Amino acid sequence: MTARIIGTGAYVPERIVTNKDLMAFLDTDDAWIRERTGICERRISTEEGTSVLAIRAAERAIADAGIDPKEIEIVIVATSSADRSFPSAASDVQGAIGAENAVAFDITAACSGFIYGLHILQGFIQSGIYRTGLVIGAETLSKVLDWSDRSSCILFGDGAGAAVIRADEEGVIRTLVGTDGKKADVLWCQARSLRNCLTGGKPELGFMVMDGKEVFKFAVKKVPEIVNQILEETGTAREDVQHYVLHQANTRILESAARRIGIPMEKIPVNIDRYGNTSAASIPILLDEMSRDGRLKRGDKVILSGFGAGLTWGAALLTW
Ligand code: ACO
Repeated sequence: MTARIIGTGAYVPERIVTNKDLMAFLDTDDAWIRERTGICERRISTEEGTSVLAIRAAERAIADAGIDPKEIEIVIVATSSADRSFPSAASDVQGAIGAENAVAFDITAACSGFIYGLHILQGFIQSGIYRTGLVIGAETLSKVLDWSDRSSCILFGDGAGAAVIRADEEGVIRTLVGTDGKKADVLWCQARSLRNCLTGGKPELGFMVMDGKEVFKFAVKKVPEIVNQILEETGTAREDVQHYVLHQANTRILESAARRIGIPMEKIPVNIDRYGNTSAASIPILLDEMSRDGRLKRGDKVILSGFGAGLTWGAALLTW
Protein backbone atom coordinates (compact mmCIF):
# COMPACT_ATOMS: atom_id res chain seq x y z
CA MET A 1 0.00 0.00 0.00
CA THR A 2 1.09 3.54 -0.64
CA ALA A 3 -0.23 7.08 -0.11
CA ARG A 4 -2.51 8.51 -2.79
CA ILE A 5 -3.85 12.06 -2.96
CA ILE A 6 -7.63 11.67 -3.35
CA GLY A 7 -8.72 15.29 -2.82
CA THR A 8 -7.22 18.77 -2.76
CA GLY A 9 -8.26 22.19 -1.50
CA ALA A 10 -6.77 25.64 -1.21
CA TYR A 11 -7.61 28.94 0.40
CA VAL A 12 -5.96 32.35 0.13
CA PRO A 13 -6.95 35.59 1.86
CA GLU A 14 -9.05 38.01 -0.16
CA ARG A 15 -6.73 41.02 0.05
CA ILE A 16 -4.46 41.39 -2.99
CA VAL A 17 -1.26 43.41 -2.52
CA THR A 18 0.39 44.31 -5.83
CA ASN A 19 4.00 45.31 -6.38
CA LYS A 20 2.75 48.85 -6.98
CA ASP A 21 1.06 48.78 -3.55
CA LEU A 22 4.46 47.96 -2.02
CA MET A 23 6.02 50.93 -3.83
CA ALA A 24 3.83 53.21 -1.70
CA PHE A 25 5.95 52.52 1.40
CA LEU A 26 9.06 50.67 0.16
CA ASP A 27 11.99 51.73 -2.03
CA THR A 28 11.24 49.12 -4.68
CA ASP A 29 10.03 48.84 -8.19
CA ASP A 30 7.35 46.77 -9.95
CA ALA A 31 9.65 46.01 -12.91
CA TRP A 32 12.51 44.93 -10.59
CA ILE A 33 10.27 42.53 -8.64
CA ARG A 34 8.74 41.00 -11.81
CA GLU A 35 12.08 40.60 -13.50
CA ARG A 36 14.04 39.27 -10.49
CA THR A 37 11.28 37.06 -9.01
CA GLY A 38 8.29 36.70 -11.38
CA ILE A 39 5.93 37.99 -8.68
CA CYS A 40 3.20 40.49 -9.62
CA GLU A 41 0.98 40.29 -6.56
CA ARG A 42 0.42 38.29 -3.38
CA ARG A 43 -2.43 37.66 -0.94
CA ILE A 44 -2.04 39.13 2.53
CA SER A 45 -4.18 38.19 5.49
CA THR A 46 -5.78 40.96 7.49
CA GLU A 47 -7.88 39.17 10.10
CA GLU A 48 -7.37 35.49 9.33
CA GLY A 49 -4.64 33.52 11.07
CA THR A 50 -2.78 30.47 9.82
CA SER A 51 -5.29 28.08 11.44
CA VAL A 52 -8.25 29.68 9.68
CA LEU A 53 -6.52 29.42 6.30
CA ALA A 54 -5.67 25.77 7.06
CA ILE A 55 -9.26 24.99 8.09
CA ARG A 56 -10.73 26.51 4.90
CA ALA A 57 -8.27 24.60 2.69
CA ALA A 58 -8.96 21.38 4.62
CA GLU A 59 -12.74 21.76 4.24
CA ARG A 60 -12.33 22.13 0.48
CA ALA A 61 -10.01 19.12 0.24
CA ILE A 62 -12.45 16.97 2.23
CA ALA A 63 -15.35 18.05 0.01
CA ASP A 64 -13.22 17.27 -3.06
CA ALA A 65 -12.34 13.81 -1.72
CA GLY A 66 -15.97 13.16 -0.77
CA ILE A 67 -15.09 11.62 2.59
CA ASP A 68 -16.51 11.99 6.09
CA PRO A 69 -14.04 13.90 8.35
CA LYS A 70 -14.48 11.12 10.91
CA GLU A 71 -12.58 8.81 8.52
CA ILE A 72 -9.44 10.93 8.93
CA GLU A 73 -6.95 9.33 11.32
CA ILE A 74 -4.13 11.87 11.17
CA VAL A 75 -3.88 15.63 10.50
CA ILE A 76 -0.45 17.10 9.79
CA VAL A 77 -0.07 20.84 9.33
CA ALA A 78 3.23 22.02 7.88
CA THR A 79 3.79 25.61 8.94
CA SER A 80 6.49 28.04 10.04
CA SER A 81 3.97 30.68 11.05
CA ALA A 82 1.48 29.04 13.40
CA ASP A 83 -0.71 31.51 15.28
CA ARG A 84 0.30 30.08 18.64
CA SER A 85 3.29 28.10 19.94
CA PHE A 86 0.76 25.64 21.30
CA PRO A 87 -1.61 24.02 20.78
CA SER A 88 -0.76 23.16 17.20
CA ALA A 89 -2.52 24.56 14.15
CA ALA A 90 -3.34 20.91 13.42
CA SER A 91 -5.31 20.75 16.68
CA ASP A 92 -7.33 23.78 15.55
CA VAL A 93 -8.02 22.07 12.21
CA GLN A 94 -8.91 18.72 13.79
CA GLY A 95 -11.44 20.40 16.09
CA ALA A 96 -12.94 22.68 13.45
CA ILE A 97 -13.50 20.08 10.74
CA GLY A 98 -14.83 17.40 13.09
CA ALA A 99 -11.98 14.92 12.50
CA GLU A 100 -12.61 13.54 15.95
CA ASN A 101 -10.81 10.25 15.31
CA ALA A 102 -7.59 11.91 14.15
CA VAL A 103 -4.31 12.54 15.92
CA ALA A 104 -3.06 16.02 15.00
CA PHE A 105 0.32 17.76 15.07
CA ASP A 106 2.37 20.40 13.27
CA ILE A 107 5.71 20.06 11.56
CA THR A 108 8.17 22.84 10.72
CA ALA A 109 10.29 22.37 7.63
CA ALA A 110 9.66 25.78 6.04
CA CYS A 111 8.98 25.57 2.31
CA SER A 112 9.74 21.82 2.24
CA GLY A 113 6.97 21.26 4.81
CA PHE A 114 4.32 19.77 2.52
CA ILE A 115 6.79 17.21 1.14
CA TYR A 116 7.93 16.36 4.67
CA GLY A 117 4.27 15.87 5.65
CA LEU A 118 3.68 13.61 2.67
CA HIS A 119 6.84 11.66 3.53
CA ILE A 120 5.68 11.15 7.13
CA LEU A 121 2.18 10.07 6.12
CA GLN A 122 3.61 7.74 3.49
CA GLY A 123 5.58 6.02 6.27
CA PHE A 124 2.46 5.64 8.42
CA ILE A 125 0.47 4.26 5.49
CA GLN A 126 3.19 1.84 4.37
CA SER A 127 3.50 0.48 7.88
CA GLY A 128 -0.26 0.03 8.13
CA ILE A 129 -0.68 2.41 11.10
CA TYR A 130 -3.08 4.78 9.32
CA ARG A 131 -5.12 4.57 6.13
CA THR A 132 -6.52 8.07 5.73
CA GLY A 133 -4.86 11.39 6.53
CA LEU A 134 -4.78 15.07 5.80
CA VAL A 135 -1.61 17.02 5.00
CA ILE A 136 -1.88 20.81 4.95
CA GLY A 137 0.66 23.52 4.19
CA ALA A 138 -0.49 26.81 5.73
CA GLU A 139 1.29 30.11 6.28
CA THR A 140 0.78 33.73 7.24
CA LEU A 141 4.40 34.70 6.78
CA SER A 142 3.26 38.31 6.33
CA LYS A 143 3.22 38.46 10.14
CA VAL A 144 6.91 37.60 10.50
CA LEU A 145 8.18 39.71 7.62
CA ASP A 146 10.17 42.86 8.17
CA TRP A 147 8.14 45.13 5.89
CA SER A 148 11.02 47.61 5.74
CA ASP A 149 13.41 44.98 4.28
CA ARG A 150 12.86 45.12 0.53
CA SER A 151 15.12 42.14 -0.13
CA SER A 152 12.78 39.75 1.69
CA CYS A 153 9.27 41.19 2.21
CA ILE A 154 8.48 41.45 -1.51
CA LEU A 155 8.81 37.68 -1.92
CA PHE A 156 6.16 36.19 0.32
CA GLY A 157 2.38 35.77 0.45
CA ASP A 158 -0.17 34.08 2.71
CA GLY A 159 -2.22 30.98 1.88
CA ALA A 160 -2.99 27.34 2.55
CA GLY A 161 -3.27 24.16 0.53
CA ALA A 162 -4.47 20.75 1.67
CA ALA A 163 -4.51 17.17 0.43
CA VAL A 164 -6.59 14.23 1.62
CA ILE A 165 -4.42 11.14 1.35
CA ARG A 166 -5.50 7.52 1.49
CA ALA A 167 -3.90 4.09 1.29
CA ASP A 168 -4.09 2.76 -2.26
CA GLU A 169 -2.29 0.39 -4.65
CA GLU A 170 -0.93 3.36 -6.63
CA GLY A 171 0.19 6.81 -5.54
CA VAL A 172 3.50 7.89 -4.02
CA ILE A 173 6.33 5.95 -5.65
CA ARG A 174 9.22 7.47 -3.73
CA THR A 175 9.88 10.36 -1.38
CA LEU A 176 13.26 11.85 -0.62
CA VAL A 177 13.96 14.43 2.10
CA GLY A 178 17.05 16.03 3.59
CA THR A 179 18.31 18.68 6.00
CA ASP A 180 21.54 20.65 6.41
CA GLY A 181 21.36 22.14 9.89
CA LYS A 182 24.78 23.76 9.50
CA LYS A 183 23.07 26.24 7.18
CA ALA A 184 20.30 27.10 9.66
CA ASP A 185 21.40 30.74 9.78
CA VAL A 186 20.84 31.32 6.06
CA LEU A 187 17.11 31.85 6.66
CA TRP A 188 15.60 32.13 10.12
CA CYS A 189 13.11 33.81 12.36
CA GLN A 190 13.41 34.20 16.14
CA ALA A 191 10.29 32.90 17.88
CA ARG A 192 11.04 33.92 21.46
CA SER A 193 13.79 35.73 23.33
CA LEU A 194 16.57 33.27 24.16
CA ARG A 195 16.44 34.46 27.79
CA ASN A 196 13.35 34.14 29.91
CA CYS A 197 11.77 37.24 31.39
CA LEU A 198 12.90 36.23 34.90
CA THR A 199 16.55 36.62 33.89
CA GLY A 200 16.26 39.74 31.78
CA GLY A 201 14.74 38.49 28.52
CA LYS A 202 12.08 40.47 26.72
CA PRO A 203 8.86 38.93 25.37
CA GLU A 204 9.60 40.10 21.84
CA LEU A 205 9.14 38.20 18.63
CA GLY A 206 11.57 38.64 15.77
CA PHE A 207 11.27 39.06 12.02
CA MET A 208 12.50 36.82 9.22
CA VAL A 209 16.18 37.22 8.34
CA MET A 210 17.27 35.90 4.95
CA ASP A 211 20.48 35.68 2.96
CA GLY A 212 18.69 35.67 -0.39
CA LYS A 213 21.78 34.96 -2.49
CA GLU A 214 22.70 31.89 -0.39
CA VAL A 215 19.15 30.53 -0.63
CA PHE A 216 19.21 31.14 -4.37
CA LYS A 217 22.53 29.33 -4.85
CA PHE A 218 21.34 26.42 -2.71
CA ALA A 219 18.00 26.12 -4.55
CA VAL A 220 19.37 26.15 -8.10
CA LYS A 221 21.76 23.33 -7.18
CA LYS A 222 19.62 21.24 -4.83
CA VAL A 223 16.29 21.12 -6.71
CA PRO A 224 17.70 19.61 -9.94
CA GLU A 225 19.95 17.33 -7.88
CA ILE A 226 17.07 15.73 -5.94
CA VAL A 227 14.76 15.60 -8.93
CA ASN A 228 17.44 13.80 -10.96
CA GLN A 229 18.15 11.50 -8.00
CA ILE A 230 14.51 10.48 -7.65
CA LEU A 231 14.25 9.86 -11.42
CA GLU A 232 17.39 7.71 -11.34
CA GLU A 233 16.48 5.75 -8.22
CA THR A 234 13.04 4.87 -9.58
CA GLY A 235 14.26 4.22 -13.14
CA THR A 236 11.89 6.89 -14.47
CA ALA A 237 12.65 8.76 -17.70
CA ARG A 238 12.28 12.54 -17.28
CA GLU A 239 10.00 12.71 -20.34
CA ASP A 240 7.61 10.17 -18.74
CA VAL A 241 6.80 12.68 -15.99
CA GLN A 242 3.97 15.00 -17.06
CA HIS A 243 4.32 17.68 -14.35
CA TYR A 244 7.20 18.97 -12.23
CA VAL A 245 5.43 20.82 -9.42
CA LEU A 246 8.24 22.79 -7.80
CA HIS A 247 8.10 25.13 -4.82
CA GLN A 248 7.22 28.61 -6.04
CA ALA A 249 10.05 30.80 -4.71
CA ASN A 250 11.34 32.60 -7.78
CA THR A 251 10.73 32.07 -11.52
CA ARG A 252 14.49 32.31 -12.12
CA ILE A 253 14.96 29.29 -9.84
CA LEU A 254 12.24 27.43 -11.78
CA GLU A 255 13.86 28.31 -15.15
CA SER A 256 17.26 27.22 -13.91
CA ALA A 257 15.78 23.94 -12.63
CA ALA A 258 14.16 23.31 -16.03
CA ARG A 259 17.53 23.75 -17.77
CA ARG A 260 19.45 21.60 -15.31
CA ILE A 261 16.87 18.78 -15.26
CA GLY A 262 16.59 18.95 -19.05
CA ILE A 263 12.84 19.57 -19.36
CA PRO A 264 10.82 22.31 -21.09
CA MET A 265 9.32 25.08 -18.92
CA GLU A 266 5.85 23.90 -20.04
CA LYS A 267 6.27 20.97 -17.64
CA ILE A 268 6.79 23.31 -14.68
CA PRO A 269 3.52 24.98 -13.62
CA VAL A 270 3.84 28.54 -12.30
CA ASN A 271 1.51 30.60 -10.12
CA ILE A 272 4.07 32.66 -8.20
CA ASP A 273 2.98 35.69 -10.25
CA ARG A 274 -0.34 35.69 -8.34
CA TYR A 275 0.62 34.42 -4.87
CA GLY A 276 4.33 35.04 -4.30
CA ASN A 277 6.14 32.49 -2.17
CA THR A 278 3.57 30.93 0.20
CA SER A 279 6.21 28.60 1.71
CA ALA A 280 4.71 25.25 2.84
CA ALA A 281 1.45 26.11 1.06
CA SER A 282 2.88 26.70 -2.41
CA ILE A 283 2.93 23.08 -3.65
CA PRO A 284 -0.57 22.08 -2.42
CA ILE A 285 -2.08 25.35 -3.70
CA LEU A 286 -0.62 24.61 -7.12
CA LEU A 287 -1.76 20.97 -7.04
CA ASP A 288 -5.28 22.11 -6.21
CA GLU A 289 -5.31 24.61 -9.09
CA MET A 290 -4.06 21.97 -11.52
CA SER A 291 -6.51 19.35 -10.30
CA ARG A 292 -9.50 21.68 -10.59
CA ASP A 293 -8.63 23.06 -14.03
CA GLY A 294 -8.06 19.56 -15.42
CA ARG A 295 -4.31 19.77 -16.00
CA LEU A 296 -3.74 16.88 -13.59
CA LYS A 297 -5.23 13.66 -14.90
CA ARG A 298 -5.53 10.34 -13.10
CA GLY A 299 -2.50 8.24 -13.96
CA ASP A 300 -0.21 11.23 -14.64
CA LYS A 301 3.29 10.94 -13.22
CA VAL A 302 4.06 13.98 -11.06
CA ILE A 303 7.23 15.12 -9.33
CA LEU A 304 6.98 17.49 -6.36
CA SER A 305 10.02 19.28 -5.00
CA GLY A 306 10.55 21.90 -2.33
CA PHE A 307 13.39 23.60 -0.47
CA GLY A 308 13.62 26.09 2.33
CA ALA A 309 14.87 27.14 5.73
CA GLY A 310 16.73 24.51 7.71
CA LEU A 311 18.12 24.21 5.18
CA THR A 312 15.62 21.56 4.12
CA TRP A 313 14.71 19.93 0.84
CA GLY A 314 12.40 17.23 -0.40
CA ALA A 315 11.04 15.56 -3.50
CA ALA A 316 8.32 13.03 -4.28
CA LEU A 317 7.44 11.04 -7.38
CA LEU A 318 3.83 9.96 -7.53
CA THR A 319 1.07 8.70 -9.74
CA TRP A 320 -1.90 11.06 -9.67
N1 ACO B 1 13.46 46.36 -5.14
C1 ACO B 1 14.44 47.00 -5.80
N2 ACO B 1 15.74 46.72 -5.66
C2 ACO B 1 16.08 45.74 -4.82
C3 ACO B 1 15.12 45.02 -4.09
C4 ACO B 1 13.78 45.36 -4.29
N3 ACO B 1 12.77 44.72 -3.64
N4 ACO B 1 15.75 44.10 -3.35
C5 ACO B 1 17.06 44.24 -3.58
N5 ACO B 1 17.27 45.24 -4.45
C6 ACO B 1 18.53 45.72 -4.99
C7 ACO B 1 19.69 45.43 -4.07
O1 ACO B 1 19.80 46.41 -3.06
C8 ACO B 1 20.85 45.46 -5.02
O2 ACO B 1 21.20 46.78 -5.27
P1 ACO B 1 22.77 47.20 -5.42
O3 ACO B 1 23.26 46.42 -6.60
O4 ACO B 1 22.69 48.66 -5.62
O5 ACO B 1 23.41 46.78 -4.13
C9 ACO B 1 20.25 44.88 -6.30
O6 ACO B 1 18.83 45.05 -6.19
C10 ACO B 1 20.56 43.43 -6.52
O7 ACO B 1 20.29 42.73 -5.32
P2 ACO B 1 20.54 41.21 -5.19
O8 ACO B 1 20.33 40.79 -3.77
O9 ACO B 1 21.85 40.88 -5.84
O10 ACO B 1 19.37 40.62 -6.09
P3 ACO B 1 19.17 39.15 -6.55
O11 ACO B 1 19.19 39.09 -8.01
O12 ACO B 1 20.04 38.18 -5.79
O13 ACO B 1 17.67 38.87 -6.11
C11 ACO B 1 16.35 37.77 -4.46
C12 ACO B 1 17.32 38.91 -4.73
C13 ACO B 1 15.10 37.98 -5.30
C14 ACO B 1 15.99 37.81 -2.98
C15 ACO B 1 17.02 36.42 -4.83
O14 ACO B 1 18.28 36.32 -4.24
C16 ACO B 1 16.17 35.23 -4.42
O15 ACO B 1 15.11 34.98 -4.93
N6 ACO B 1 16.69 34.42 -3.49
C17 ACO B 1 15.96 33.24 -3.02
C18 ACO B 1 15.10 33.64 -1.87
C19 ACO B 1 14.11 32.57 -1.50
O16 ACO B 1 13.68 31.80 -2.32
N7 ACO B 1 13.72 32.58 -0.23
C20 ACO B 1 12.70 31.73 0.25
C21 ACO B 1 13.18 30.37 0.56
S1 ACO B 1 11.87 29.41 1.04
C22 ACO B 1 11.65 29.46 2.75
O17 ACO B 1 12.11 28.61 3.44
C23 ACO B 1 10.83 30.51 3.37
